[in-house]
Amino acid sequence: MRRIVIFDTTLRDGEQSPGFSMNVSEKVTLAEQLARLGVDVIEAGFPVASNADFEAVREVARVVSGKAVVAALCRTKIQDIDRAGEALKGTARARIHTFIATSELHLQHKLKMSRDEVIQAAVAAVKHARKYTDDVEFSAEDATRSDREYLCRVVEAVIAAGARTVNLPDTVGNTVPWEYSALMKEILTRVSSAAGITLSVHCHNDLGLAVANSLEAVRAGAGQVECTINGIGERAGNAALEEIVMAVKHRAAEFGVETSVKTEEIIPTSSLLVEITGIPVQPNKAVVGKNAFAHEAGIHQHGVIAKAETYEILRPESVGARGTRLHLGKHSGRHAFRRKLVEMGVDLDEESFEKSFERFKDLADRLKNVSDEDLRSIVGAGAAAAAAGPFILEHLQFTSGTDIVSHATVTMKVREETVVRSAWAYGPVEAACKAIDQACGMTARLLDYSVRATSAGKDAMGEVRVTVEFETRKADAWASSVNIIEASARAYTMALNRLSTPASAASRAAN
Ligand code: KIV
Ligand code: ZN
Repeated sequence: MRRIVIFDTTLRDGEQSPGFSMNVSEKVTLAEQLARLGVDVIEAGFPVASNADFEAVREVARVVSGKAVVAALCRTKIQDIDRAGEALKGTARARIHTFIATSELHLQHKLKMSRDEVIQAAVAAVKHARKYTDDVEFSAEDATRSDREYLCRVVEAVIAAGARTVNLPDTVGNTVPWEYSALMKEILTRVSSAAGITLSVHCHNDLGLAVANSLEAVRAGAGQVECTINGIGERAGNAALEEIVMAVKHRAAEFGVETSVKTEEIIPTSSLLVEITGIPVQPNKAVVGKNAFAHEAGIHQHGVIAKAETYEILRPESVGARGTRLHLGKHSGRHAFRRKLVEMGVDLDEESFEKSFERFKDLADRLKNVSDEDLRSIVGAGAAAAAAGPFILEHLQFTSGTDIVSHATVTMKVREETVVRSAWAYGPVEAACKAIDQACGMTARLLDYSVRATSAGKDAMGEVRVTVEFETRKADAWASSVNIIEASARAYTMALNRLSTPASAASRAAN
């Protein structure tokens, strides 16, 4: 079996798509889970793009050092490479990933550079990156629409300059499986030095072919696949990691390759990403969708009960979907709660565990069934609360109705001092936020607000997500409760906490 490298770019190509942005601590949490999943390379960000990206790469590199290779993306510009090198300093296994476009379209209209100038820039970048690490990857952006003759020259030149991995991205999702595998074969035959390095693939999903294209390239000899959890990424997304990994595992004999991924960690990783970004996976999504192992039709149910393989090609357990579910309710104690968290792949320190347990008991008193989604919300809120800042919302009281102006009173701990403030507004959320502003001495703007139920039923938990702006900075936060006004107030307070920290630690600078 040939071992292929799984290069995860959820934190870079995935994160750069609308709605999927993550703050530094969210990136670190996901990176730790990616390391548990067993991916070989974690691309943590694009350090020169912003201070937050730089810090995220530095933190991820520190936390997962030794458990996976940590990659940082950079253009071929010297200052980009220096920034990447600085962010990765001290990491046991660091990779610098430098890229420049090679298609005529990009050269003429975007870069305004000649072919020779692009080769010179690529070679200089690889050589400069090698001063920081031996592990240098070069990507020929828009490779699939590049002239083959020229692409071969580029590949040859960057290998001679010291690139150990050469990536040929289908940047715009334009290729088809037979064309992409032919490209791999052509490079391997025409560039003799390509046999000594890892040839990598990176596919976008504009035609829904990202996984198929990647798999054909693997069959043609590619040694690394770049992909993301749940297939998130620029535009229609990137190739989905879970689909690539399960396809080569399920059809191992034909592919003749294996990966280091612990497949039982796939669903915990997918769920963690959903929890962090708030963007659900489509129910019929292969491998990780909630219907991927659900059988509705009577004939199918009958078959599956008699023998699972009749209608199931993958065992749910093999991707971390538990066959037997532990139901938690108000009679459950710490032991069962801890076991359930382990089952869900959630690892908490003692303080966060105790806070989460208290929230669970409180919720279990009010709900008949506490779903896994509810638990993820509780645990996320517990962990986030533990990492809070100077403001703590201790008590909220509000009145609201159809024909009355809403009124809210908050009791808050503001830098250890108890402050009580009240405010009037048309709606209860506005009243609560105004009262919190007054208590905290900040007048912030609520830029974005959404609420969704984390489970079915009238007694479902409501998860509120907010984006708040204060002066020139923005912060995202979320909280959940069966009382959505309380969840709103907690999420808003959490955002103010983030905005009250120095710029580098706040979730995101306004841009
Ligand atoms: O799609 C692409 O070409 C990329 C490169 C930067 C690798 O994401
Ligand atoms: Zn990409």
